[in-house]
Amino acid sequence: MLRIDQYLTTDDLAKALRRDVAEGLGSRPRSLPPKWFYDERGSALFEEITRLAEYYPTRAERAILLGHAPEIARASGADTLVELGAGSGEKTRLLLDALRAAGTLRRFVPVDVSGAFLRESAAAIGAGYPGLEVHAVVADFERHLHLLPSGGRRAVAVLGSTLGNQPPDRRAAFLADLREGFAEGDTLLLGLDLVKDPARLVAAYDDARGVTAEFNRNVLRVLNRELDADLRPEGFDHVAVWDPRAEWIEMRLRARSAQRARVRAIGLEVDFAAGEEVRTEISAKFRREGIAAELRRAGFGLEHWWTDPAGDFALLLARP
Ligand code: AVJ
Repeated sequence: MLRIDQYLTTDDLAKALRRDVAEGLGSRPRSLPPKWFYDERGSALFEEITRLAEYYPTRAERAILLGHAPEIARASGADTLVELGAGSGEKTRLLLDALRAAGTLRRFVPVDVSGAFLRESAAAIGAGYPGLEVHAVVADFERHLHLLPSGGRRAVAVLGSTLGNQPPDRRAAFLADLREGFAEGDTLLLGLDLVKDPARLVAAYDDARGVTAEFNRNVLRVLNRELDADLRPEGFDHVAVWDPRAEWIEMRLRARSAQRARVRAIGLEVDFAAGEEVRTEISAKFRREGIAAELRRAGFGLEHWWTDPAGDFALLLARP
């Protein structure tokens, strides 16, 4: 059984992109939200990042699931796995396998902004799990959380440290929204990258082969194509810095020289000074006490905490 609910259209996405670019490039300090990295090329580059020697988070999270999935499944007791920001599918399968082995699995609800991506991945999962009800939802999980299917015992998974792409105030709003839609028996599964040696963190976002640099510059190509812009990807350097106070990695694009760009679809002209930076992503790193407090403020209690053997990454289970 495959059902797809669409709360977000490509037209909504086009409007959101125009608004984000008008706001983010039209004022200083300049910024662009990270969600626009992920066109086909950007998604492929991200997949490549996950296989880099320097980028440990994906492997660490996989190690946690490989080592603890049965415990995680038992602790949640879920019959429904809701995955916000459906990933490549491997981690999903580890969780689905464990829930199936625990005998509780009934339904899978992948949620993503990309309808095309969801259709493909939902169909693939459906084929691998006969009898599983697959209810895909095309939605922006910052806006449409209240529309997610309810009922049963749901485990809502936000893996890959996706939560870290939002600053603390937006995380608080997101967690509070999530809590509002939670019923008795629902659980939250969060995958989070942890604070560690800054040199390792910076290397993870500034790899030797320059894959992350290309991923970062890809957002300019997306703007060129979608908004008829003439930004020059080769005119910008990739920058990754660790902010020790905020405890997040910031990715930026730094103009190599003074340059002007036009974003014709929104009638925007942008003058970059030499060395001027555009912030393209924050990737917050977490500590157990800090995220426990964030969860508490949103009305969740942290119940379980699993890490990989190196202690690089955590998967936690929380409930109302
Ligand atoms: C998948 C969004 C969590 O922040 O580590 C990887 C994206 N950016 N390298 C992250 C990313 C640069 C990744 N997230």
